[in-house]
Amino acid sequence: MKKITKICCIGAGYVGGPTMSVIAKQCPEIKVTVVDINQKRIDQWNDNDLDNLPIYEPGLKEMVEATRGKNLFFSTDVDKAIDESEIIFISVNTPTKTYGKGKGQAADLKFIELCARNIAKVAKDDKIVVEKSTLPVRTAEAIKSILDNTGNGVNFEILSNPEFLAEGTAIEDLLNADRVLIGGQETASGQQAKDALSAIYGHWLPKERILQTNVWSSELSKLVANAFLAQRVSSINSISALCERTDANVAEVSRAIGFDSRIGSKFLNSSVGFGGSCFQKDILNLVYIARSFGLQEVADYWEQVIIMNDYQKRRFAENIITTLYNTVSGKKIVFYGWAFKKDTNDTRESAAIYVADALLEENAEILVYDPKVKAETIYADMDYLGTRSPEENRRLLKVTDNAIEAVENAHAIAVLTEWDEFKSYDWAEIYQKMLKPAFVFDGRRLLDKTTMEGFGFKYYKIGES
Ligand code: UDX
Ligand code: ADP
Repeated sequence: MKKITKICCIGAGYVGGPTMSVIAKQCPEIKVTVVDINQKRIDQWNDNDLDNLPIYEPGLKEMVEATRGKNLFFSTDVDKAIDESEIIFISVNTPTKTYGKGKGQAADLKFIELCARNIAKVAKDDKIVVEKSTLPVRTAEAIKSILDNTGNGVNFEILSNPEFLAEGTAIEDLLNADRVLIGGQETASGQQAKDALSAIYGHWLPKERILQTNVWSSELSKLVANAFLAQRVSSINSISALCERTDANVAEVSRAIGFDSRIGSKFLNSSVGFGGSCFQKDILNLVYIARSFGLQEVADYWEQVIIMNDYQKRRFAENIITTLYNTVSGKKIVFYGWAFKKDTNDTRESAAIYVADALLEENAEILVYDPKVKAETIYADMDYLGTRSPEENRRLLKVTDNAIEAVENAHAIAVLTEWDEFKSYDWAEIYQKMLKPAFVFDGRRLLDKTTMEGFGFKYYKIGES
């Protein structure tokens, strides 16, 4: 088997950046180039101050520090990287086409298509093209068709190698992956390509964890894995609503069922709703595919996971409104957290966006504190929703970098992200600063009820009456 010495990744985002840093660290003899058309992003990846990397991810800084300039490079010269690489990973964004009511379900593949056309134009020798972005099933087929019909007559092997890393634990997930999935054509050259990519992961992962399948199984498995995980969250969230009406406690229910080894304890934490760039998008893709094959019941089944998630976000916002005496108009509500989960600065599909939207509809005044998310991202999220003008968003929603001063004269705090630092705050001081009665709505089940009530708070926790 030919030894791979040069690879590149198109797309320097949440997937491409961490994945390539880990490959570079684990495979010192391979030159890894990460390219992006976004100059600002590449400049941030190349910034001497490693605190300015474009994404925040525990352990990432150290990986980049150990490899950048040695065998890891960040550049905007996409063509050069394609030309010199034997393996090209495509890791560009594939957003769902539209948002809001009547959301589109199909993924927008225009960035993928542009990449494929670019590879076809530039490549002068045989290449292995790896789809890493989350993609609808059969995208590999589309990429292959573009490459074969517009290329320079060179052979392209397309592999599907879906990413299973979770943000916030990306480096750990990559180093210690439960499994790596590699889908490819069942031909001799397809097998060679699968083996070449397997050999890269084989630098640090045991053979048994590197699974080879056909392309479509690999593409579909990615969607199904995320659909199953999201389904667990929606399942427990549906029970949280029931717990709030009874004296059951959702944490006790989770614990009780999680002890059953057939069920398992992970992904049973009730929350204000799942977010992130994958869960919703992947389920929508699954629903879209099922529907396009006329499998209505299958589509409806999985769609319910999203319907339940939307309900959970809405329910949280409505509870704030009803509890604050049926009006939040002109009331100051402080958001603790904006990211879709802790230890990331990613806000895509974060529940906070939708809760903010619902409260702003009722003329609340929102002040957001998040330790890692920048104000420009928060405003971009709100503007993207399109519910109100950018001026209105900036008038009604403010962002602060001081979590404690933020609560001065606030009516309520809503905990939207489970950042560890929130647990160590001086909640007695926070209580003093707030208007009374002082409300805390804990969408992450982060704080202790007895302690919070001891301070004097009116404390509401998802999944408890
Ligand atoms: C997910 C998959 O876990 C990962 O394998 C895939 O590659 C990408 O999608 P990610 O979206 O980064 O990863 O984070 P994840 O930890 O799965 O959390 C997704 C959302 O579900 C978050 O908003 C999180 O807060 C929420 N969640 C998760 C819960 O509300 N409860 C849980 O028990 C677990
Ligand atoms: P993900 O979470 O999938 O990594 P991101 O949005 O974080 O998604 O990153 C995707 C990156 O891909 C962005 O930085 C974007 O600029 C880049 N990108 C999109 N299209 C192209 C393209 N045709 N060539 C190079 N980079 C691209």
